[in-house]
Amino acid sequence: MDATTRRILVINGKGGCGKTTIATNLAVAYASAGYSVALVDNDPQASSTYWTEIRSDELPPVQLVAAHQRTHMYQTHTFQHRLPASAERVIVDGHSNARDRDLEALLKQADVVLVPLLPSAIDIRAGGQFITTLLTHRAFRNSPRPVGVIANRIQPNTETHAKLEHFLGCLDVPAVATFRDSPVYTEAVELGKGVVDMLDSRAARKETPAWRSLIKWIDAQPKASPTTVDDLRRRPAAAPATCEVPTSLDERPLSA
Ligand SMILES: Nc1ncnc2c1ncn2[C@@H]1O[C@H](COP(=O)(O)OP(=O)(O)O)[C@@H](O)[C@H]1O
Ligand SMILES: [Mg+2]
Repeated sequence: MDATTRRILVINGKGGCGKTTIATNLAVAYASAGYSVALVDNDPQASSTYWTEIRSDELPPVQLVAAHQRTHMYQTHTFQHRLPASAERVIVDGHSNARDRDLEALLKQADVVLVPLLPSAIDIRAGGQFITTLLTHRAFRNSPRPVGVIANRIQPNTETHAKLEHFLGCLDVPAVATFRDSPVYTEAVELGKGVVDMLDSRAARKETPAWRSLIKWIDAQPKASPTTVDDLRRRPAAAPATCEVPTSLDERPLSA
């Protein structure tokens, strides 16, 4: 790890919003662009670990750091010392229940934070609350880092999409990528692949530009400065702007 290494945390307090899908696909997008990539599995469900186990050796390599395994119950989510020295991009598949000290440990080890959001009222409400938790967390206030929201499982040009866009427009953080609701993502995870590996699939090729532009956004962000415990004590609390959740948002299942 050096000054050019970027550590990217993918996190949201809600399960099923696409953290593993985004972490694994981002890992592949970087690996296929020639970067040395470490994928840190922070979720006890160990989905990224499973994905790495089934990934073929013939594909661009992604090194796993299985940080969900704890040796004792008070251990925090520190994985920094376990990263391969060669890692240029570190992608952390965060877990949905990371709060307080666990969230602090994850934030302190991140340069950029990505929050996936699904287009349903329930997910938007939960995601909005999570973003508030994130922005008011002392580790974040002390050393703010770029946060980007990812609109995931989007069916373009639908009313639900338009309402999500409206919500994203009034958030305090930018929407930095949009990924379609496509079976190619489920297929990719089952094969230990990312869509960028699947250039023989038309559906995967359609998604590739969005991954390339997400990488560009991440790489354009400044690297976070290190945080010390003393720094954390000094900073006053700051309340982020709040954003109203659209109550009329369509709550039908995504596949309907
Ligand atoms: N853009 C997408 N299009 C279609 N299915 C998706 C997409 N993103 C995620 N999924 C599916 O949604 C489910 C939950 O995604 P996952 O990445 O496991 O969420 P999390 O890690 O946040 O719990 C998985 O079955 C995954 O294949
Ligand atoms: Mg997951």
